Amino acid sequence: MSEADRIAELRALVAYHDERYYGLDDPEISDADYDALVRELHELEARHPELPATDSPTQRPGHAATTAFAPVVHALPMTSLANAMDRSELEAWGDRLVRALGDAPVRFVCELKIDGLAVSIRYERGRYMQAATRGDGQVGEDVTANVATVSAVPAELHRVAGDHPAVLEVRGEIFMPLASFERLNAAAEATGDKRFVNPRNAAAGSLRQKDPAVTARRDLALWAYQLGEVQGGPAFNSHLETLDYLRSLGLPVNPEIRALDSLDDVLAFCAHWQEHRHSVGYEIDGVVVKVDDLAQREQLGFTSRAPRWAIAYKFPPEERTTLLRDIQVS
Ligand code: IVH
Repeated sequence: MSEADRIAELRALVAYHDERYYGLDDPEISDADYDALVRELHELEARHPELPATDSPTQRPGHAATTAFAPVVHALPMTSLANAMDRSELEAWGDRLVRALGDAPVRFVCELKIDGLAVSIRYERGRYMQAATRGDGQVGEDVTANVATVSAVPAELHRVAGDHPAVLEVRGEIFMPLASFERLNAAAEATGDKRFVNPRNAAAGSLRQKDPAVTARRDLALWAYQLGEVQGGPAFNSHLETLDYLRSLGLPVNPEIRALDSLDDVLAFCAHWQEHRHSVGYEIDGVVVKVDDLAQREQLGFTSRAPRWAIAYKFPPEERTTLLRDIQVS
């Protein structure tokens, strides 16, 4: 098969699996197998710039919004993240930062990569107004009524130093804690219903319910990790300041977030969480490493798909065979 044919084949395959994962909440292959397809496609596309890529799934993160929920145009795009699959890819990212920023010291903020669904939650004058999924990054789905049922999502933000911002968009991950996931599957088994494959899938299925009363019974949670559009709010110099602000507003911010001053420390953080990934009560699939200084972020900017100032260090896939067999037997 020629490389051009393989590109066409990979584009169709990736689009198919995007739809299974995002559109139908019913993935057919593992995240690792999916990542391998996307990587191969990226590499081949880089070798063949003469082949137009406008309709390639590599040009848009995730899926296009489906018609079941009203579309929401994101005030600021919800981009995806570049991945580092191992130590050397993380080091290569560190080298690119040094080339772009010179000798300036870089502080990194390391966060657990929560395996859930990204949402953008809009508050106006401190009041919950709207929530949307990421969709294709530009247009997501309106899940306002569903996200409103998540107890970790405040209906009203705390007032901090004066008036509430006219607009404040909070970005974060909606997820299903493992205990809730196990309870849900035990209940499904008792009633002879289909089990959910994993907590991410259960969270996605629970969020995209036409009846928010069903979502309300599903015990979803949130970790907030980023600001979207802000109008009339305070100015920040660093990501850590924005996280403190989110916390002071009453939003849940993950307690395991750490600021680290060297890439060696970042690598140690990644290695630690790779080993202890099951010590928290929710699924994580990596570590997100972000440049803390917002002026440095400006300097680094974005590629067409993702910010240059952040990267997702992905944990290697786990041996799931036993787990799957156990599930089928039980
Ligand atoms: S930051 C521009 N932080 O990972 C940066 N994302 O592969 C936006 N995710 O779409 C994302 N935990 O759904 C960020 N602590 C974290 C995260 C996180 C999980 C997800 C998010 C994003 C995807 C990118």
